[in-house]
Amino acid sequence: MSDIAIVPAPRELTVAEGRWITADPVGEAVRDVVENLDATEYRIDITADGARLTAGSEDALRHAESTYAQLVEAAEPAGDEGGGEVAVPLARIADAPRFAWRGMMLDVARHFMPKDFVLKIIDVLALHRLNVLHFHLTDDQGWRVEIEAYPKLTEIGAWRAETMVGKMSHGQTEFTYDGTRHGGFYTKADLREIVAYAAERGITVVPEIDLPGHMQAAIAAYPELGNHPDQQLTVRQYWGISDDVLNVNDATVEFVKTVLREVLEIFPSEYIHLGGDECPSVQWAESEVAQKRQAELGLDEPGQLQGWFTAQVAEVLAEEGRRLVGWDEMVETDCPKDAVIMAWRSAERGEVAAKAGHQVVMAPCESVYFDYYQGDPKTEPLAIGGDIPLEKVYDFEVIPAALTDEEQALIIGTQCQIWTEYMEGPEQVGYMLLPRLSAFAERAWGSPKISYDEFVTRLRPHLTRIENLGVTYRPLD
Ligand code: ACM
Repeated sequence: MSDIAIVPAPRELTVAEGRWITADPVGEAVRDVVENLDATEYRIDITADGARLTAGSEDALRHAESTYAQLVEAAEPAGDEGGGEVAVPLARIADAPRFAWRGMMLDVARHFMPKDFVLKIIDVLALHRLNVLHFHLTDDQGWRVEIEAYPKLTEIGAWRAETMVGKMSHGQTEFTYDGTRHGGFYTKADLREIVAYAAERGITVVPEIDLPGHMQAAIAAYPELGNHPDQQLTVRQYWGISDDVLNVNDATVEFVKTVLREVLEIFPSEYIHLGGDECPSVQWAESEVAQKRQAELGLDEPGQLQGWFTAQVAEVLAEEGRRLVGWDEMVETDCPKDAVIMAWRSAERGEVAAKAGHQVVMAPCESVYFDYYQGDPKTEPLAIGGDIPLEKVYDFEVIPAALTDEEQALIIGTQCQIWTEYMEGPEQVGYMLLPRLSAFAERAWGSPKISYDEFVTRLRPHLTRIENLGVTYRPLD
């Protein structure tokens, strides 16, 4: 019998002696949504008489189907007669995810990714029983979502004239450019198609409009949003952190609210990400308008204007019953207490956020930033830095050790990140994402950690499933 290779591994799998002989294991399996299981739980029972898939909800039944499809691959031809029947191993699976938020972030701002590839990524998430696609739609280098009220966001903001070549180093100010226009955006119809495709697979698309920093593309389109409205910026053509952040005028707050209202119409997700990372306050410190605002609000530091700005625009989310999600810098900027914090700078930032009473998604760069190298930089494609080989992802502990039980309960899940400064298209994204995402999915699901070698044994045949989705991956060493 071939081995049962399920990725991510179910929480409980028991294999018994014997086989179920059938010509059609998928067609003949019985399926039921039942009341005695929790909404996230499912069971698979394969006996000599047949297979039964039960689940506490339609979403969980989808997980049962996905696991069952992988299990059925372990069936072998029954007898030597070539009669078309197969022998399916007898097994019992009792399974449910450990975490509610099992996500992947895709940055389509630094490099635009075609819609068809985004749909493939959703297939990859579904294969791994992940349930959130965090869609990083805006940044300094590109604005990717059609907004009817402000057409220049995509007419101008979705395109950059050229892009820096090579690796950006700290403090670099002179660049070599590739001379090639880059860009693209998703129409509302594209985005609705992506959202619907994901929903059919039990996946929520969480959009991110990154603010008030990482907004240079928007300011290039509408200079009045910036702190130097008389200056015409370009959509940024190199990486790093831009000092050009939104101004804190009332008109800019209104502009962003209008954008968000359109975003909420496209994305039904309860959770909406408003960024909040890497927002320098140098321009606010120098701006008369910002200084006046700071004084009016009685704030000590210009950086505190970020919390004020976020709270203003987040009113739109509250009106629609949505929840604010932000990167961990938000904790330091007096953000709303019910904001979900995505801990990225380190696992410790997740501890800090949980201790401050926030729900937290663990996305620490040292473990789950898949733009980091996964092998020797001398032989790997150019990447931003770091070192996260597959085994390190497998060993990732989602919950920081220093939390009390009550604080641990605030960790609602985990997420891996694909930032695309150094990934020009689908081929490069696949190479950086997979199979690290397969290891990540084990931690997000809560698969038993037996050993890295055991994982690799299951992963080898799993790579064929990834290949069948038409996505590239990094071959195993
Ligand atoms: C981030 O990596 N700037 C969230």
